[in-house]
Amino acid sequence: MKIVMVASESRPYCKTGGLADVVYSLSKELANVNEDVSIIIPYYSSINVEAELVYNLPLKMAWRTPRALVYKVVSEGITYYLVKNDQYFARGHLYGDFDDGERFAFLTLAAKAIMEQFKKAPDIVHVHDWQAGMLPCLIKEDKNNKFFSKTKFVGTIHNPAFQGLFSKIILGDLYNLPDTLYDNGQVRFKDQVSTLKTMIVYSDLITTVSPTHHLELLTPEGSMGLNDVLRLREFDFVGILNGIDYKEFNPSDDKNIEMNFNSSNIIKGKKANKLALLKQFNLKDETAPIFSLVTRITWQKGFDLVFPAVEELVNKGCNIIMLGSGEYDYEQRWEDLRRKYPDHIGIYIGYNDALAHKIYAGSDFFLMPSLFEPCGLGQMIAQRYGTLPIVRRTGGLKDSVINYDGNNSETSNGFGFDEYSNYEMNRTCWYAYSVYKKKALLHKLSKNAFNTDNSWVKSMNEYRKVYLSLLKRK
Ligand code: GLC
Repeated sequence: MKIVMVASESRPYCKTGGLADVVYSLSKELANVNEDVSIIIPYYSSINVEAELVYNLPLKMAWRTPRALVYKVVSEGITYYLVKNDQYFARGHLYGDFDDGERFAFLTLAAKAIMEQFKKAPDIVHVHDWQAGMLPCLIKEDKNNKFFSKTKFVGTIHNPAFQGLFSKIILGDLYNLPDTLYDNGQVRFKDQVSTLKTMIVYSDLITTVSPTHHLELLTPEGSMGLNDVLRLREFDFVGILNGIDYKEFNPSDDKNIEMNFNSSNIIKGKKANKLALLKQFNLKDETAPIFSLVTRITWQKGFDLVFPAVEELVNKGCNIIMLGSGEYDYEQRWEDLRRKYPDHIGIYIGYNDALAHKIYAGSDFFLMPSLFEPCGLGQMIAQRYGTLPIVRRTGGLKDSVINYDGNNSETSNGFGFDEYSNYEMNRTCWYAYSVYKKKALLHKLSKNAFNTDNSWVKSMNEYRKVYLSLLKRK
């Protein structure tokens, strides 16, 4: 199969969140089973790679003709097409500008033009999130163009909170599409154009990143208003749980951590990593557990529950370590907490891969009480390092963490609660702390977490099945 992914970010070149991991890992696994996979992403100025200029494409965007310089690089069996235009992508950051609508319209137009240079159209075009959401529409509305007549489109929702809402003007002014698509409702959502809704309407199949989030997206509470649109596509909509990259996150061969370990020396290994981590953050009490977070600092991640729980835990003598960056107010609250409890709280505001690995490896518990979480990767990475996640059971957190309920020490690999409340959060942290004191039980659960299979192979096979089933359709 010839498969082309289109997204706004992908490892190893650019990343702000889980999207970049998923686009990359899924592609890599598909390439491993000999599928022909390409990824089209912007060539942001932060990307530093030797790539070859292969196309120089003038794109028609209503009254202007911006150019896409397309660079190609092949890595780990994946062909990347990096779309360069410094006016759009040399900003020093990926998102958050007033003209994001135009920047990603440009990426979408470029993706179509790049594929039109191929000898044969792709079998599958797989678009991710709002940034690439208009592509199926753009191609299907180009009615005289027969090049893509056999191509099938898959659209994945990684985060329903970002709906790509823009004024109706973007249709004609950026995408060269007629206003009738707005007037007849195809692309209209909340009285604007939504590129995410358009992806849902025009893709042959829609996926999201966990089975539970699939169900949530069909309800008014869990879908940020997308439920009615998704109901219309209910029979072409599935949830596939993400995996994590088992090569990148591998405690037995991880250059970033103090001591490598596997299932036979996990207890010793975790101890050594914990001591190194405490030292790095200048925390004193080796006997107390470490509760950690590695996260984007944003309301989605449940910080309203985290802050009171942190104070409770610190008052019990526990250690807290947080790495992340994001919303200013929350960052300041972390700074305040650290100043208040310097012997118990260590924070790193920013993005730091190597340090993140150390935290996953050296912690006892990993906090992820998200308000909503389509999939979540942190909890799976924690498990891979034998660290027990404490999660709110929403979306993929529910699908990947088996709560310890006092009777299931054979199968449990973490802790979970349902209600988004301080009471439930504090209760669950307290319970985890009580388990920490029963060393044999703690080690058993930690081993269960370590042995959980969160690898991509399983998920990749599900995507592959989906692609193949689409190709059988007329
Ligand atoms: C988004 C979601 C997260 C998911 C990731 C990858 O960042 O918020 O839950 O794991 O996409 O699919």
